[in-house]
Amino acid sequence: MLWEAAEFLEAAGGSLEGAVPAEISGISIDSRTIRPGEAFVAIKGERFDGHDYVEAALQAGAALAIVSVDRREGISGGPLLVVEDDPLDALTRLAVAARERSRAKIVAVTGSVGKTGTKEMLRLGLSAIGSTHAPVGSFNNHWGVPLTLARLPADADFGIFEIGMNHAGEITPLTEMVRPHAAIITTVEAVHIEYFDSVEAIADAKAEIFDGLEPRGAAILNRDNAQFERLSRRAGEVGARIVSFGENPNADVSLVGSMADAEGTRLTVDVYGETVQYRLGAPGRHLAANSLAVLAAAYVFEANIKTVADALSAFKAPAGRGDRHRLSCDGGVITLVDESYNANPASMRAAIALLRDAKPGEGGRRIAVLGDMGELGHRARDLHVALADDLADAKADQVFLVGPLMHDLWEVLPEGARGAYARDAGELEPILVKALRAGDVVVVKASNATGLGRLVQAIKDRFPPTGAKDES
Ligand SMILES: Nc1ncnc2c1ncn2[C@@H]1O[C@H](COP(=O)(O)OP(=O)(O)OP(=O)(O)O)[C@@H](O)[C@H]1O
Ligand SMILES: [Mg+2]
Repeated sequence: MLWEAAEFLEAAGGSLEGAVPAEISGISIDSRTIRPGEAFVAIKGERFDGHDYVEAALQAGAALAIVSVDRREGISGGPLLVVEDDPLDALTRLAVAARERSRAKIVAVTGSVGKTGTKEMLRLGLSAIGSTHAPVGSFNNHWGVPLTLARLPADADFGIFEIGMNHAGEITPLTEMVRPHAAIITTVEAVHIEYFDSVEAIADAKAEIFDGLEPRGAAILNRDNAQFERLSRRAGEVGARIVSFGENPNADVSLVGSMADAEGTRLTVDVYGETVQYRLGAPGRHLAANSLAVLAAAYVFEANIKTVADALSAFKAPAGRGDRHRLSCDGGVITLVDESYNANPASMRAAIALLRDAKPGEGGRRIAVLGDMGELGHRARDLHVALADDLADAKADQVFLVGPLMHDLWEVLPEGARGAYARDAGELEPILVKALRAGDVVVVKASNATGLGRLVQAIKDRFPPTGAKDES
């Protein structure tokens, strides 16, 4: 059970039409996935209005549906909880009540990149020491955060929240709802720069996460990031305790040593003078850095750090964010790193760096398949062209590029590194699939809108997974 009906109704407000069961097992905003006994909240999204799906939700066994009085008339069936304002406001009231009744230790994660990955590491790590609640996917916005909070079980030991933003002012109301004991800022980079004048302005918007910190809460900050001092100052202003992490030896949680292989990284970390060794189950320096923030949270929560760290050996990069596939091919295997879910300059550089650490098989090459990054405003061209240096550092042998912005990068690539350029993914698909051979390590990355997911699919269709473990 998630909520007793009486508590739920009291918190949500509104007037009830019909009779509800004594217990509400969960909260859903999607009639396609709702389970019997859950409450349905009719949220208005960009494309859909939940009010159009109330009947479907009730037919699927919803315990009740929260609807707005403005839309009440067109809806048949029940029970309904009719609210004067928006059902999202009712969800927010439930979220606040869930926080109020909870004794959980709460950690909130924001940052330009790495929020979801860090959230998943926290889920693994904290689950090893207590019952842990965390969001589905990237639920990090004005409805994702209250939904996740309203779903916080009363007896959870730990609550993890991801908080995202596109504009200044968006994080404050969300963190004030979540009231974290620890707030992590993974890193601050030129992402969503379209809506900001400078990286400093982005840092200030991320620093809003401190607005909701509980008294004596901790700000967990990346010591290696250029915005560290600025963020520390902001955290200090609200009286937060600062816990820094990073490769910098002065960090409170600092990386002492690391050994990367194809499947992960073995790390030695100093946590306030205590040495902790553990294995992270996915490769990449950027993911290793995120894991330090998890250890910092464990420290803040006075948890057994070694137990939390050991759980990270099970970490795997989420789909489209670095998950690896070994594909069979005449004479050997191709290693495919799927980063097609999304991209910005920071995660693009991290993905390209994965190539540097990769070891192609005999006769194989390091191959980058990159597509346009969106939302970069007037800096878009420069930020695309700048990737040439990263590709050279990573020793990329062949580069395939997709999209109008990538054309600028294409023009500055050395002749020998040029695989092919195409305006869209469909055009590149046959050329790319034909170019691959045994031993290749291929990283595919672009903004979601560039649609490189279809290239990943095409490669997998042509070269079926071996089912063996990745050893490249
Ligand atoms: N510290 C980091 N530095 C650079 N890149 C990173 C870092 N952490 C993760 N990444 C990369 O950034 C991409 C996005 O990761 P993730 O989904 O965890 O970020 P997010 O902040 O949750 O993104 P979103 O804003 O889409 O929710 C992945 O490709 C991941 O490998
Ligand atoms: Mg995310």
